[in-house]
Amino acid sequence: MSGRAALSPRLAMAAGLVPGDRKNIRLADIGTDHAYLPVWLLQNRGADLAHVIAADLRPGPLDRARQTVRAAGLEGAVDFRLCDGLEGLRPGEADVIVIAGMGGETIAHILAYAPWYDWAGITLILQPMSSMPDLRGWLGAHGFAIEREELCREGDTLYTAFLVRAGAMPPLSPGELWAGRNAPDPLRGPWLDLWLARVGRALAGMSQARGEETASRREELERVRADLLEMKKEWETWQR
Ligand SMILES: C[S@@+](CC[C@H](N)C(=O)[O-])C[C@H]1O[C@@H](n2cnc3c(N)ncnc32)[C@H](O)[C@@H]1O
Repeated sequence: MSGRAALSPRLAMAAGLVPGDRKNIRLADIGTDHAYLPVWLLQNRGADLAHVIAADLRPGPLDRARQTVRAAGLEGAVDFRLCDGLEGLRPGEADVIVIAGMGGETIAHILAYAPWYDWAGITLILQPMSSMPDLRGWLGAHGFAIEREELCREGDTLYTAFLVRAGAMPPLSPGELWAGRNAPDPLRGPWLDLWLARVGRALAGMSQARGEETASRREELERVRADLLEMKKEWETWQR
């Protein structure tokens, strides 16, 4: 990457969730790898940023981050941290925290082990690559509310990103836990199809299994499927 480069649709979706009406943002990108997101933000929203931290667990990705920053001529504008999750940040050092491109369980783990006691005033931008139902469930159970969910398409793949703040999340139905709340977004139909296919595969995989636990798991999955079908119908009415 040299000069100004465009972000991939997935990272552009995450960048789009950085509050547009805020100044003096202290941003931390956790699991930054190439630091594409912080560099793009510095190039395009630099006036709104007061401090930028690019953190990664491993030295290799952090070296790549340094290279991207150097190639963009932004030496000195990024504070690099080699650390696990948020462990290398002091509470109050960041008020917008991006955790993108990781599994939902890893994201939940990073939040669970953050040495912070007060999330008030902090905006989290979470872009899970897997285990979205687990992440939504974990957030709701631990005092976080998903305020917005976005979708994007990159090649053949659909991705999601959440804008999350401390607060009580209204309960999610089983289908919402899997696919997020319904919205008229044109990508929402294909997104629901993807989750319907996953539930279908999970149910098909259980077709020969017996036992009480299997029966209750099957019931749960049937509830998820019924919810997803309802959401799909609702979404179709919005497309007319
Ligand atoms: C697939 S890359 C994602 C890079 C970038 N955030 C993106 O979305 O394109 C995941 C990065 O997260 C880092 N990572 C994984 N677990 C981490 C943790 N617990 N704390 C910090 N970084 C972590 C990995 O080293 C890797 O560089």
